[in-house]
Amino acid sequence: MTPEISELSAQLTVLIDAEKIQAKIKELGNRIANDYKGKQLHLIGILKGACFFLADLIRYLPRDTTLDFMAVSSYNERRQSSGEVRLVKDLESAIQGREVLIVEDILDTGVTLDYLSRCLWARGPKSLNICALLSKPSRRIKEVAATYVGFEIPDEFVVGYGLDDAERFRNLTTISIISKNWKAGY
Ligand code: IMP
Ligand code: MG
Repeated sequence: MTPEISELSAQLTVLIDAEKIQAKIKELGNRIANDYKGKQLHLIGILKGACFFLADLIRYLPRDTTLDFMAVSSYNERRQSSGEVRLVKDLESAIQGREVLIVEDILDTGVTLDYLSRCLWARGPKSLNICALLSKPSRRIKEVAATYVGFEIPDEFVVGYGLDDAERFRNLTTISIISKNWKAGY
């Protein structure tokens, strides 16, 4: 049975509201624009979660900013990382000699971004940095240096603003904690 919207909402607790998210993106965007002044920046968004963040972030960046997407999968069970990363979709264009910024929704254990950084460094970019909207420092297994982090959050499973639970809740304008014992009918 499909749960009613009110029933779904009852399992969610807002952690970061829409206004705070947008203010942080403006701040990050302005910082990135300043740091890359005079350089041609190339963004790589990690599908699917980061595309909401990337779409808002790029509006604060210079008009010659380009973008590409990659998709990886590290989850083989609901809310449980397999610890293995699989490349699901590769880039369309080469990054050799380019100023590359990876844009990701969340830095959790660090396994995904560690894999992606190594994979992309091997292709010879001029620079490679990471911008993650969220980070859960207490969950780190692999040390990953992210130059830009929007919010550090506690060890809670969050959804919204691109983040999903079994593909749901990506369209929330807030970032919300989803109750650990919530078992949806899917
Ligand atoms: P990592 O490899 O453990 O750092 O995990 C990175 C990926 O796990 C992210 O790109 C998300 O897709 C997913 N993930 C980690 N934490 C959460 C969460 O709290 N909510 C939704 N997805 C998450
Ligand atoms: Mg992701």
